[in-house]
Amino acid sequence: MTAPAETSTTAAATAGDGTPAVRLTGVGKTFGRTPAVQDVTLDIRRNEFFSILGPSGCGKTTLMRMITGFEVPTEGTVELGGVLATGVPPHRRDLNMLFQSYALFPHLNVHDNVAFELKVRKSRPRAEIGPAVREALALVRLEGYGERSIGQLSGGQRQRVAIARALIGRPSLLLLDEPLGALDQKLRAEMQLELKKIQREVGVTFVTVTHDQEEALTMSDRIAVMDGGRVLQVDSPEAIYERPATRFVADFIGTSNFIGGTLRGGRVGAPGLGNVAAPEGHGVPDGTEVHLAVRPENVRLARPGKSVSGADGPDGCAVVFTGTLDQIVYLGSATRYHLTLPDGSGLIAEARGADGGAGGGFAVGEPVLAGWDPRHSRVLDR
Ligand SMILES: Nc1ncnc2c1ncn2[C@@H]1O[C@H](COP(=O)(O)OP(=O)(O)OP(=O)(O)O)[C@@H](O)[C@H]1O
Ligand SMILES: [Mg+2]
Repeated sequence: MTAPAETSTTAAATAGDGTPAVRLTGVGKTFGRTPAVQDVTLDIRRNEFFSILGPSGCGKTTLMRMITGFEVPTEGTVELGGVLATGVPPHRRDLNMLFQSYALFPHLNVHDNVAFELKVRKSRPRAEIGPAVREALALVRLEGYGERSIGQLSGGQRQRVAIARALIGRPSLLLLDEPLGALDQKLRAEMQLELKKIQREVGVTFVTVTHDQEEALTMSDRIAVMDGGRVLQVDSPEAIYERPATRFVADFIGTSNFIGGTLRGGRVGAPGLGNVAAPEGHGVPDGTEVHLAVRPENVRLARPGKSVSGADGPDGCAVVFTGTLDQIVYLGSATRYHLTLPDGSGLIAEARGADGGAGGGFAVGEPVLAGWDPRHSRVLDR
């Protein structure tokens, strides 16, 4: 029940359709004179798995804390379920947050850890607590673990107890700050799929914070990429990878090669490399300083004198350079080739298997042809 003296976002968050779960408008936060978050405007849709992705210190936790109400924005507004959240304290917001260092109570068993939230909030009759805990544990696939002590659980199991505890009050919105940070690589990968499954089952809006791009790509319906307190792009994982909006995004998500120069007549005039063909339809005006971004998996290699497969277009507009092979890195599922181009810059090519996609047998130190189809490159003016 809502106390009469305080406003709440609960009723609004369950009412009406089409309103976003969260709407941020011009949100900013300055600590002293340091701007931690600047001018963020975005919507998080209902039942969406939304990730905030960016390097350490870029403002992810601060942005999330402004949604929860633990941090008050210095600028802009936060709306939850279509209702202005200004002045609404965290415990009156229809949400729950799993903090960066989720803390379970080591002296309580699994059942009591999960029940804690309900007991403190006194939001359910005592008789309902047992069944609610069993339901929450089933959701995270920990049926029958209620009597275990926290010390008898693996890292992944502890993580799932924390998620059960956060979900038991059935919030409309669950915010998770680096939820898988404490887990090893393999367990992380498992839990990423598990989290996504749980989110679909409960139909709750999930907002997670991560600095791991693979994690964001795996779990999210949409991703907001942040740098230096600003949101640079909000898009689906595929769009973020295939159509990055800025050089930072292209570099932070996966690996990209960049060729810098001035755009003129459909080509990028790159000092030391000549006029490099750009893709069509980029919409950037001539005379702009740009970067041409190319993913390593789109760079093909060949021996001098041979054609570069996939890049040797009949119209002759394919990009081809002669480079020197500096390093070959075998990655298991692919092999990475590090080249130096005539202007001294580096270029990375990646091919499945160990043959470089061209019949194999490249050796470090030899000259190689590297090329790509301009349609696989992207013009970036930011
Ligand atoms: N309470 C505070 N007082 C002063 N500065 C703060 C405070 N909280 C955060 N900051 C600063 O704001 C910036 C953003 O911090 P934030 O914790 O949001 O980053 P983050 O993206 O979550 O980083 P990480 O990935 O390391 O957790 C940092 O420069 C940080 O030092
Ligand atoms: Mg953080």
